Amino acid sequence: MNAVKNPIIHVPVLLPEVLENLPVPPGGRVLDLTLGLGGHAEAILARCDQQVRYLGVDRDPYARDAAKQRLGRDARLTILAGTYEWIWEDTAFEAWMHLQAPGGLDAILMDLGVSTLHLKDSKRGFSFMEEGPLDMRMDPESGPTALQWIADQDDRTLADAIYEFGEERASRPIAKAILSAFHQGHLHTTLDLAAAIYTVLSPEIAKRRKQINPATRTFQAIRIAVNGELAGLASAIEQGVRRLKPEGRIGVISFHSLEDRIVKQALRRLAGIYDGPGRTSPEPMPKFIHLINARGFKPSDAEIAANPPSRSARLRIGERLPDSRMS
Ligand SMILES: C[S@@+](CC[C@H](N)C(=O)[O-])C[C@H]1O[C@@H](n2cnc3c(N)ncnc32)[C@H](O)[C@@H]1O
Repeated sequence: MNAVKNPIIHVPVLLPEVLENLPVPPGGRVLDLTLGLGGHAEAILARCDQQVRYLGVDRDPYARDAAKQRLGRDARLTILAGTYEWIWEDTAFEAWMHLQAPGGLDAILMDLGVSTLHLKDSKRGFSFMEEGPLDMRMDPESGPTALQWIADQDDRTLADAIYEFGEERASRPIAKAILSAFHQGHLHTTLDLAAAIYTVLSPEIAKRRKQINPATRTFQAIRIAVNGELAGLASAIEQGVRRLKPEGRIGVISFHSLEDRIVKQALRRLAGIYDGPGRTSPEPMPKFIHLINARGFKPSDAEIAANPPSRSARLRIGERLPDSRMS
């Protein structure tokens, strides 16, 4: 996990689209709620003047270390530990806002999900391709590991999570297979989890049919559950919009349909568009933002060819209206 000796490269997705549609004015104030390895931050800062101030937040200590190694000498950047769900109540965040951005923010970036740092370091337990402990926590100092989380489930709750967060149709037999491996003492590592899933869905058949690896959806589901990835997303977007200056912009990059649905509904609701009652759209709201490109930005064919993991990315942007007041 030593980011200094073995630098892991994370290619920032939709970078030209972010740079073009999340402009930072001279002396602007930027909040990056998912700093990661600082790829977007580096590119944004490279185009900014010396009066700009950039606050980068991440829940993962290894990501913060890597970003510090990369950008730590840039006096415009401050790095804070925290999550986009809770940072709004953090005293260091409040102090930064008070000192550096009393008039609000010009740009907010959220680049959701995991980074290459998580997927490429087998010791973090995110990958079904390599042996690692069943951990999957983005913040390794907080909350139960994936194995501890699985130990707390029964057939129904595990199947529900795999179905809801992985959109996996075979959720019930997969949940049974995982819990059966666990109760027989055979579930310790990422490869054990993958092997339990493969007793239900064959990776060879999936490969022949050119389908994704059958462990993909279940790993995604358990990762989302362990990190509580979707629960506070809509309210984090709303909190961010509250802190934007008039004409300031928030950009959110999602990587799968569940995330994108929440981002889309949250931004549409803040734009005064009511999609009906739902998980993230409890009631209508006045119009606080307008949407820049209502369909969102997708990666170009060239980006997908150069960086295949970018293929499912979508960037959605909202701009704070000049005369909108949020109570
Ligand atoms: C896709 S990566 C960001 C990559 C970054 N934009 C770059 O170019 O290097 C997502 C980052 O968000 C962090 N993260 C995920 N959920 C978070 C949350 N709720 N609060 C804060 N950080 C979070 C992860 O630890 C990860 O480092």
